[in-house]
Amino acid sequence: MTREIRITPSILNADLTKLSQEIARIAGVSDLLHLDVMDNVFVPNFTFDFERASQIIKESVLPVDAHLMVADVDLIAPAYGEAGCASVTIHAEATTNIASTLRAIRHTGARAGLGIKPGTKIEDYESFSDQVDMFLIMTVEPGFGGQKFMHEMMEKVRRTRKLIGDRPIWLQVDGGISIDTIAEAAEAGADTFVAGSAVFNAGDPAAMVLSLRNCATSVAD
Ligand code: DX5
Ligand code: ZN
Repeated sequence: MTREIRITPSILNADLTKLSQEIARIAGVSDLLHLDVMDNVFVPNFTFDFERASQIIKESVLPVDAHLMVADVDLIAPAYGEAGCASVTIHAEATTNIASTLRAIRHTGARAGLGIKPGTKIEDYESFSDQVDMFLIMTVEPGFGGQKFMHEMMEKVRRTRKLIGDRPIWLQVDGGISIDTIAEAAEAGADTFVAGSAVFNAGDPAAMVLSLRNCATSVAD
């Protein structure tokens, strides 16, 4: 089966003081820019408030894939769609009304993503598959870049791939994706890959994006 592969670099590990140059380095070879929004409540780390995130979304030459790691996400998620994101992902653990928030995101024209942490079962959220444009399976505990890839999440990825089948729902993995782990995730069925430190700690980030893509594509073909 041929699957379309998407590489979505995360700017969490980029130099945030010169963000537009950092984005320019990977723009030509990447599909989307992964924006990690953390509130220091849902996760023990803070990245951007909505105002700063909106600025980045407006200035980015790449379409933005917002990953909202914030508590009470139902309130803020649609605003990320309104701000121009191509995709907005909420965490199942942070929402009290998944269906209506996914609907509200789609209503803004953005793709609606549903993410789960390593300890959360996909089985509990399979019934939402008609309402999502992307499932995100975390392959680290959300909160920080540069953590070790959790191989044990691959069973969850495989199960989610089975659930999706050939429907145009993206299957994203996030955390610890590198040239050493991307093939395993692609083999399990992922098609959309977040890579933070692997890309921005590389001497040539664009070349790394290409290598990651080649690696995933060769497995997915
Ligand atoms: C972690 C974030 C990730 C992070 C990935 O909570 O959601 O997107 O930036 O960074 P790496 O690729 O370094 O694991
Ligand atoms: Zn992320």
